Amino acid sequence: MAKWRKVTGMNPAPLPTETIEKLLLSGGQSRTLPADAYSSADLYAWEKNMLFEGGWICLGRLDELLSPGQLRAIELGAETILLSRQPTGQVAAFSNVCRHRGHELLAVGKRVDARQIRCPYHSWAYRVDGTLRTAPTLTQSPGFDVADWPLQSVRVAEWLGWLFVNSSGDGDTLEATLGSLGTVLASYEPARLVSAVKHDYEVAANWKLIAENYLECYHCTTIHPALCEVSPPSSGRSIPSDGMWCGGTMDLKPQAETMSFSGERRLPRFRNLDPGLEREVLYLLVMPNLFISAHPDYLMTHTLTPASPGRTRIVCEWLFAPEVVEQDDFDPSYAVDFWDQTNQEDWVACEGVQRGASNRGFQPGPLSSWESSLAKFHAMIGRAYLGEGFVPPPLVEWDPYIDGLDDTLR
Ligand code: FES
Ligand SMILES: [Fe+2]
Repeated sequence: MAKWRKVTGMNPAPLPTETIEKLLLSGGQSRTLPADAYSSADLYAWEKNMLFEGGWICLGRLDELLSPGQLRAIELGAETILLSRQPTGQVAAFSNVCRHRGHELLAVGKRVDARQIRCPYHSWAYRVDGTLRTAPTLTQSPGFDVADWPLQSVRVAEWLGWLFVNSSGDGDTLEATLGSLGTVLASYEPARLVSAVKHDYEVAANWKLIAENYLECYHCTTIHPALCEVSPPSSGRSIPSDGMWCGGTMDLKPQAETMSFSGERRLPRFRNLDPGLEREVLYLLVMPNLFISAHPDYLMTHTLTPASPGRTRIVCEWLFAPEVVEQDDFDPSYAVDFWDQTNQEDWVACEGVQRGASNRGFQPGPLSSWESSLAKFHAMIGRAYLGEGFVPPPLVEWDPYIDGLDDTLR
């Protein structure tokens, strides 16, 4: 069988140690990231290598990426990988490289129905499980054993309907790195949900600016008047995290049933939703590139792919229960239009920060207590910059949103 790829270690980021240590400061001493974090080509290369190729990365919803019996080549950092979904639904991933003389097996972006993978150069043919089936003339040669030349496996895992890969092969299982996140989301039953609408955006901002913007609503009164009509920007609670994620909740205003322009919910609530979640929305960031916004009636996700230090591609999806999507009069526009407008407002702000942070006058600034989630994000980024990978965020003692926490945890 195919073997795991070589395990690589994590090196510290190319930033001065004292700069990284500032990211780990707790409480009101927290500062925003230094300018290099948003514009340095060296740091960007390190992040792609260590954070986006060195650990678990979300690729999107499995059913959207490929159907059973399909193969697809996708870009991952500086490399491409080949996804293969067997007719039984099982997924495997491989380096998109032929074991003969290294020709790329499938062009990036191509998605094909196939029972085998044939190299376009000299026609070595592999089964969908990556084993070599035939190599013209060599298969008959003495001493040549097809078992010695499988495709190189890439670690892959499905979690609640999302597909993740870990091309370095390093570290814990995906389940272990996500800790209790599956439990937090359990009553939405994400595994059965269907991606009904997808928007692609390209934003002229570093991927971390988009994450930082996602984690706070300090900006909401300034740029999201429609959002503030249905959700108070200072509401909510932090959710203590034990995995590579962070986030919290925001409340719905008394007249609002969900996040939409009118606050009206045009589709039913999730069938088994925990009653405690009927009046709030969860905003969760799975490091480094998946945002999950869980509403009482739909999930919205953002999946980020950095394109350069100052550019990020974002796929935004709206997920609903399958029985809702199947209805003839299914109309998700109340959710999609609201968030499309909010997304665009956010992208304008993120692009403004990207331009400002590239200015020589930029210096890291202080955070407000409404931005306590950023302190957690910065602590996670800081630990990753030290070469430790993603570790659970600390509890932030000045976090005004923590409630019901044992004092010993603060
Ligand atoms: S490089 Fe693939 S068959 Fe030769
Ligand atoms: Fe926003």
